[in-house]
Amino acid sequence: MIAQLVPPAVSSADSFEDHGWDALYPEERALVRNAVESRRREFATARACARAALSGLGLPPVPILPGVRNVPQWPTGVVGSLTHCAGYRAAAVAHSTAFHAIGIDAEPNEALPDGVLGSIATAEDLRHLDAAPRDGVVHWPRLLFSAKESVYKAWFPMTGIELDFADATVHAVADPRPTAAPSAGEATGSFTARIRFQGQTPDGHPVSGFSGRWLVRRGIIVTTATLPVPA
Ligand SMILES: CC(C)(COP(=O)(O)OP(=O)(O)OC[C@H]1O[C@@H](n2cnc3c(N)ncnc32)[C@H](O)[C@@H]1OP(=O)(O)O)[C@@H](O)C(=O)NCCC(=O)NCCS
Repeated sequence: MIAQLVPPAVSSADSFEDHGWDALYPEERALVRNAVESRRREFATARACARAALSGLGLPPVPILPGVRNVPQWPTGVVGSLTHCAGYRAAAVAHSTAFHAIGIDAEPNEALPDGVLGSIATAEDLRHLDAAPRDGVVHWPRLLFSAKESVYKAWFPMTGIELDFADATVHAVADPRPTAAPSAGEATGSFTARIRFQGQTPDGHPVSGFSGRWLVRRGIIVTTATLPVPA
């Protein structure tokens, strides 16, 4: 599912089933040994996805441990991101010569809990949501939330700057409907995210936005935010 969203130079892997516990490295297993079963499962499957994605770049398996503020620590020269939600886990990685940053996020395609939209949306986000099509397929406020999580996961490891939900405005749109009949309950689209201050890429260029893609399928929203290194 995630492979449909990321650019060709990004290697990704995902899973709808849990696996990977036996393949965890001892230092990874130690991190979740006392965690609840659901956390152990998502942690292990996400690591299996991460190693499959690294293998797609021609890289050997390594432990993926949390660093500062739980940012996943990728091998030198790699950027990437992990996500897990009920029924879905994914990883995406790329060489840092090709991408400055990658963020991915998955959420159930369900209404946000009461009160959450007011705490994550800017006035401009709300205007964009008002203009979103009432198609009965996409839970647009949840998509907004996921896009902001993707943006944060791309932004923070690159800049080290914290980001509140109010600091980013997201405009998501659906792709034009395909000529062939789309599968029921599926939709794809893109988004742009604007951050209200500037950060820097690792090579010192200003950055204050991301472009992204989104997909709704099997009751799950997946979003990806990427920042390619200009050719
Ligand atoms: C950290 C956070 C983004 C994780 O998102 P989530 O939807 O709760 O959980 P997901 O399953 O999608 O992602 C979890 C993975 O994110 C990664 N992650 C955690 N902290 C991270 C960080 N600071 N930067 C980048 N990636 C991070 C980890 O790999 C984690 O998986 P792991 O614990 O198995 O290693 C979220 O909990 C959070 O703190 N959000 C508040 C900040 C934010 O989103 N601001 C929005 C600004 S517009």
